[in-house]
Amino acid sequence: KERIEKLRSTIVEHNRRYYIDSEPVISDFEYDLMMLELEALEKKFPEFAAGDSPSRRVGSDHKNEFTQFEHGYPMLSLGNTYSESELREFDTRVKKNIEGDVEYTCELKFDGVSISIIYNNGRMLRALTRGDGVKGDDVTQNVMTIRSIPYMLSGENIPAELTARGEIVMPRAVFDGINIDRLANSLPPFANSRNAASGTLKLLDPKMVASRNLDCLFYAILSSPPVSGSHFDNLVQASVFGLNIHNSIKKCSSIDEVIAFISYWEQERKNLPFDTDGIVVKVNSLALQERLGFTAKNPRWAIAFKYKAEEAVTKLLSVSFQVGRTGAVTPVANLEPVALSGTVVKRASLHNADQIDLLDLRTGDMVFVEKGGEIIPKIIGVDSSARGNEYDKIEFITLCPECGTTLVRNEGEANHFCPNYRKCPPQIKGRIEHFTGRKAMDIEGLGEETVELLYNNKLVGNIADIFDLRFEQLIGLERIGEKSAANILNSIRKSIETPYSRALFALGIKHVGETVAKTLASKFNSIDMLVNAGFEDLTSIEEIGPKIAASIIAYFNDSENIETVSRLKSAGIKFSGDPANVYAGGGKLERKNIVISGTFAKHGRDEYKSMIEQQGGRNTSSVSGSTSFILAGNDMGESKKSKAQKFGIPIIDENEFLKMISVNAIEE
Ligand code: IVH
Repeated sequence: KERIEKLRSTIVEHNRRYYIDSEPVISDFEYDLMMLELEALEKKFPEFAAGDSPSRRVGSDHKNEFTQFEHGYPMLSLGNTYSESELREFDTRVKKNIEGDVEYTCELKFDGVSISIIYNNGRMLRALTRGDGVKGDDVTQNVMTIRSIPYMLSGENIPAELTARGEIVMPRAVFDGINIDRLANSLPPFANSRNAASGTLKLLDPKMVASRNLDCLFYAILSSPPVSGSHFDNLVQASVFGLNIHNSIKKCSSIDEVIAFISYWEQERKNLPFDTDGIVVKVNSLALQERLGFTAKNPRWAIAFKYKAEEAVTKLLSVSFQVGRTGAVTPVANLEPVALSGTVVKRASLHNADQIDLLDLRTGDMVFVEKGGEIIPKIIGVDSSARGNEYDKIEFITLCPECGTTLVRNEGEANHFCPNYRKCPPQIKGRIEHFTGRKAMDIEGLGEETVELLYNNKLVGNIADIFDLRFEQLIGLERIGEKSAANILNSIRKSIETPYSRALFALGIKHVGETVAKTLASKFNSIDMLVNAGFEDLTSIEEIGPKIAASIIAYFNDSENIETVSRLKSAGIKFSGDPANVYAGGGKLERKNIVISGTFAKHGRDEYKSMIEQQGGRNTSSVSGSTSFILAGNDMGESKKSKAQKFGIPIIDENEFLKMISVNAIEE
């Protein structure tokens, strides 16, 4: 009973992370294993059955901001399998219900977020997310920005009411670009393209959605009566109507042919521009589909075969606990080195205490390690059959491994934190490294190792101490000669010129990333105004929500922080608006992400950069799916050029740019 309850609550929690937050922390495989275990236990112990068990429901993706509508045809999910023998069992089950041979349609299983689009007389009426399968969120405005989804269908004999079902995906190249941008802006990267796609579809600003270049692949059309008698012919017809049907679809007349299709795509899918996680096998005849019908959750006429992410088995040597700049404690597994997808894995992420509990991890265990997409390797399971009695259970630490303070875990948060903000060494060092970092004060020569050295020698214990460093103190340290000491001091001196917004970002206030810092600098002319700002002053700014506002207020309520800011000011740091860099609103480049490339004749790059900022645009360093255009001079980089072509991003020269931002320029 205990295990059933634990599994239920864990699955509900992961449903929320997956469907609502678009930020899952476990792989599909791990999720499926939990669900299988739950289903098996509920079957074995029917006395503990519950109507609201997640095993009986489709996870819900409802967000409050969108209007909901009922689906004309419910949106069910698919039963899935990872094994060939279960696939053969599916074939046997299908054949038991009908006489003779069955024809299947095989399709790729696109790894994105499902969408249902209703076309009324060929015109898009409404686009709904899956929601809970019965009702979905109306995301029409967002869907209309996706170029591969037609607003009007084309061709003849289009049913008066047609529902198109498909998967919205984020192409891998777009995903990579967006994550580079997010990291550069101190935003957490998306775990994989599916979450990026689903997070994007739920954005409240369709313009943002448009900038993210989503794509859509359709896998079914529904109408009454259907446009043909078979699923395959329906898809062919859908393609005539202008819906994007992937050319991999194939009719198979035996389960062996299906299996051949599966093994062909196991490798070949890696060459596709988007992610897929398996193959969907569907009974082709619609009449047969109807005869087979549905179980409570899934159609009996279709099954998903999922490819397993590459995994390896190795020994768990120990678990260490890392404390980050913000005090968050992350458990990390130290593993016996093992080869996995071309690299040697020695460490794996364990996320948090719940994850360790759920896996019931013990030192010495043989563990399954998986490397999925961009994410660092993680432990997804334990081979408990290989476990000896003497193995010690891994207990989450209660004291900070760095400073001995009792850890806290706030309600609703997954991580443990060390609350010793002032004295915990990795937190202090982390803040100093953040301060000197390239995106902040950009102090050359004060990287991780040197900060460690200065801290260990008690020369810096606070960001303001950097400005008190003296030549004779530095040359006394190992590895620092006269020349590097002079260079360090020189770059500290130069850093005083850092613009206000970057200096604000450098303070390392929780939740104040680069973009938020820029917004704050543009709204509050000096740090004193920001120090005095109240909760409402802050939250009245579009980008500043209650969480950010509370964090800013807490930061400036701390007298030691006020003291630090005042020491930084005395050192000469600008904590007030450089009018040239302050954006006053109403600019011509609002919400535009612009990459500058090459050399220019009329103005320097920095001048162009500040013109972009003055007009409300953002200067980004790398070309990605979210780039609005490239301001190109002579000798534009080849890789930027080819990326621009790939994403279809306009390239404009300086004359066009100056015309664009000139006073008389016509608004778009
Ligand atoms: S058919 C009733 N075909 O996978 C059957 N689904 O686990 C409906 N998906 O919600 C689904 N590619 O979002 C189907 N070729 C494909 C698919 C596909 C991706 C997604 C879809 C669905 C989920 C089912």
